[in-house]
Amino acid sequence: MAKRYIEQCRQRIDAELDRSIRQDSASARLQDTMRYSVLGGGKRIRPALCLAAAQAVGCDEEVALIPACALELIHAYSLVHDDLPAMDDDDLRRGRPTAHIAFDEASAILAGDALQTLAFGLLASAPQLTDSQRITMIAKLAQASGHAGMVGGQAIDLESVGVQLSLDQLENMHRHKTGALIEASVDLGAVTSASVTREQRDALATYARALGLAFQVQDDLLDIEGDTAIIGKRQGSDAAKAKPTYPALLGLEGARAHLATLLEQAQKALDGFGDEAKPLRAMADYVVTRNH
Ligand code: IPE
Ligand code: IPE
Ligand code: MG
Ligand code: MG
Ligand code: MG
Repeated sequence: MAKRYIEQCRQRIDAELDRSIRQDSASARLQDTMRYSVLGGGKRIRPALCLAAAQAVGCDEEVALIPACALELIHAYSLVHDDLPAMDDDDLRRGRPTAHIAFDEASAILAGDALQTLAFGLLASAPQLTDSQRITMIAKLAQASGHAGMVGGQAIDLESVGVQLSLDQLENMHRHKTGALIEASVDLGAVTSASVTREQRDALATYARALGLAFQVQDDLLDIEGDTAIIGKRQGSDAAKAKPTYPALLGLEGARAHLATLLEQAQKALDGFGDEAKPLRAMADYVVTRNH
């Protein structure tokens, strides 16, 4: 079900993303780099989670479309910068050369910068949202993607190369670099509803916390067990760079067992919801079983 759900979401999200990057740009090359980085594939898991969370709290998914796109723009920017020589130095992403290879390093850096500001610009002017929703979402996204969230996690990642982290330290890194944006994806979907209750938001936050971690554990596993042609990224990249990962710390079996526990936690958090949370349940299963 998740694949069908994501596919449905993708069409609406991609049309909106395409529109947002079509706006006048001062540089054609910069715009090309942005388009290449956003529109060339990607599973669209964060925007799909945002739409699924909106559905879980009984909101029209249409209202969540702009926040969903803002999340994907931040994610795309984070990938462009993550692949740079100064960071993971990767040459393959989504089955194609990374942005700095297809264009050049400076263009990739600038495209990342521009995608980030575009995300906040989109949210600030989203016509379907109230002022209060816009401000809540901008604050949440800024928190989740900045130094207290994703960028902070990326810094820990780089500082930890070749370092033996404890399980708590590894979890802390994953929660920041990957978990924070996934948690924000679910939360932005939830705040599209004016009637969302504290209990619902808490339950969704518990779901997203477990799923955010599970997402990175599966990413780490795919780096070892995946096939370059399928994952669209260079297999073995983490080990080659002595990255701290779950399999490196717990072994393959330990990482898989941890993944199963996290999936259980995520699903359990949705117990208080009915059929309206079906897409969120399906998304959780997909995140831990995906092969790319
Ligand atoms: C990869 O994210 C980077 C991580 C945060 C682990 P995705 O696996 O969602 O990448 P795309 O968007 O589908 O390419
Ligand atoms: C990246 O984690 C997380 C981001 C914030 C982009 P990884 O470095 O493991 O992501 P991949 O494997 O390159 O997609
Ligand atoms: Mg990285
Ligand atoms: Mg990387
Ligand atoms: Mg990875």
